[in-house]
Amino acid sequence: MNNDYQHNKNKGYFEIAREPSSISSEVFTEKYYKTETPVIIENIGQDWPAISTWSEDYIREKLAKDAKAKAASLWYWMEKGSLEEDYQTPEIIDQLLDTENVFPRNELMRIWAHPQGNVSSWHYDANMVNVFNVQMTGKKKWYLVSPETPLDCYPFTSFAIMDGNDEKIFNNKNYTRVILNQGDMLYIPPLWFHKVVSLEEENLNLNWIFTKKTTNVVSTTLKRELDRYSLQSYLSNHRYQWVQKTFSNINQNIPGYLRWKWRYPEMIETPVKPRVFALTRLTLKEISSLAKVALHAKKIKPYIESIRSIKKLS
Ligand SMILES: [Fe+2]
Repeated sequence: MNNDYQHNKNKGYFEIAREPSSISSEVFTEKYYKTETPVIIENIGQDWPAISTWSEDYIREKLAKDAKAKAASLWYWMEKGSLEEDYQTPEIIDQLLDTENVFPRNELMRIWAHPQGNVSSWHYDANMVNVFNVQMTGKKKWYLVSPETPLDCYPFTSFAIMDGNDEKIFNNKNYTRVILNQGDMLYIPPLWFHKVVSLEEENLNLNWIFTKKTTNVVSTTLKRELDRYSLQSYLSNHRYQWVQKTFSNINQNIPGYLRWKWRYPEMIETPVKPRVFALTRLTLKEISSLAKVALHAKKIKPYIESIRSIKKLS
């Protein structure tokens, strides 16, 4: 089977692939996971008790009794198997986690709870995570843009610059939009830009997330991500202590999503080799858009506030 990133050679709208919940993990792995292509697995959760019983109150009450669960800024963290009487871990996920090619992590699962009208603005997720996202309650509209036709981001971040309307944003992009219905699972491969709008009164999602140790999929965003990682790694391990300290101070004092952070000591292995002038080039290029941060301060503010509003358990 061909594992090249064929899919992204095109520009414009594409219809997201759909598969039945009976898809085997072998087929899923070859067709979607290795090629990092988004797909919807339909009705995967249709028989789970959670589909009819979950609400944010219910989850909070149950997680409060789970010593390993915790609230993050925008979601609830769980370890694998938490609340497991309410759903079944899909076979696809169990199989992938069983391989050597995944960075170990305890917090493998998240629950998102959003009210109607909530918009998660354009970004891609940190740490090159693969996200398996099931719509448990409500409905969400997803917009996805391929890492091969990236959106411009604020300097050194994975958070897209907030100007232009969506139609403008889609110019020359490889993109899709889709409504995720209750019981369906969306696979969001690493580095895919997304914007998500919550459509119903209560919208709950269950996620499994993990990072591969190696990938063969090379995209424009992957190269930028490697540069970002090298720069962070260079500054945090600098031979002069004061450089390390200054970097760490600055980094700790900027809002969460603007922060430079890579969860693992190593970057994932890719066919892209670190580039000699990457750091200088990246620094100059990214700094040129620094002014936009100030210019857009008002638009960014609501997101900073939402990130600071920590979810609470119990
Ligand atoms: Fe995200």
